[in-house]
Amino acid sequence: MNRIKVWDSFIRGFHWLLVIALGVLYVSGEEGWLDVHFVTGYTLLALMITRLIWGVIGSDTAKLSALINPPKKVVSALKSDKEQRAGHNAAGSLMVIAFFVLVLLQLITGLFTTDDILVDGPLVQYVSYDLVELAGSIHHSNIDFLIAAVALHVLAIAIYRLRGKQLVKTLLTGKTESTLPQPKMKAGWIAYVVFTILTGLILALWGMEPLNQLIN
Ligand code: HEM
Ligand code: HEM
Repeated sequence: MNRIKVWDSFIRGFHWLLVIALGVLYVSGEEGWLDVHFVTGYTLLALMITRLIWGVIGSDTAKLSALINPPKKVVSALKSDKEQRAGHNAAGSLMVIAFFVLVLLQLITGLFTTDDILVDGPLVQYVSYDLVELAGSIHHSNIDFLIAAVALHVLAIAIYRLRGKQLVKTLLTGKTESTLPQPKMKAGWIAYVVFTILTGLILALWGMEPLNQLIN
């Protein structure tokens, strides 16, 4: 057994920032606190775009290409805990893809959603009313799929814990004991720089009004 590094600092930060942002977005959406909702939504959009970029240029365990696996591998990952490779196993990878699709769908439909009173997402003005209605109804119902996915995810992590796999500890420290070779890692700070720049750009483009409302 060797101690190897599997999660770089960006993947670890990305995960907990995602959890916090989704919590804030859920509560602010339900309560109608739309300034908080928009500013958090734009920040999460920057975070997700950074994660996708990091999925191309980042560490081996962050690679999007590693998330795509033949069904045979998914089944064998569900049947046995034998390590296939460092990072997400084939079944976990499916869960990650599902999260990326659901979160991006929620973010993109949000941009086209209106509260029908005062507040419009920034892209509402460019499309037909029918499309805005459709985006709004997806924005309202997709949240239930997202909540179901989170419940399944936490249940899976708990089941792995009962079987002796401490995945949360690994996600917190980035390191684990393994017989596998050390995967190639990249410096997470590079992704944080990309995230900071993208957040600044998106907030400058769409976020000045809600930011001003929040500050004043
Ligand atoms: C809003 C709630 C949550 C969402 C949307 C979420 C989403 C995700 C995503 C997208 C990943 C993949 C990370 C990446 O490769 O970029 C992941 C991994 C992980 N999450 Fe969560 N998560 C949530 C809550 C939690 C909670 C509460 C826990 C702890 C109990 C947890 C434990 C983990 C662990 C241990 C991994 C790594 C799995 C592995 O080793 O393959 N997550 N999660
Ligand atoms: C993953 C990110 C997001 C989540 C989880 C989320 C979640 C929610 C939730 C739970 C609601 C309340 C829905 C309901 O009352 O049934 C809501 C409403 C709303 N969201 Fe989001 N949202 C996200 C991103 C965005 C973004 C990026 C925007 C626009 C910039 C946006 C714009 C809106 C608007 C305008 C409403 C009010 C709709 C109404 O009053 O009927 N959302 N959102």
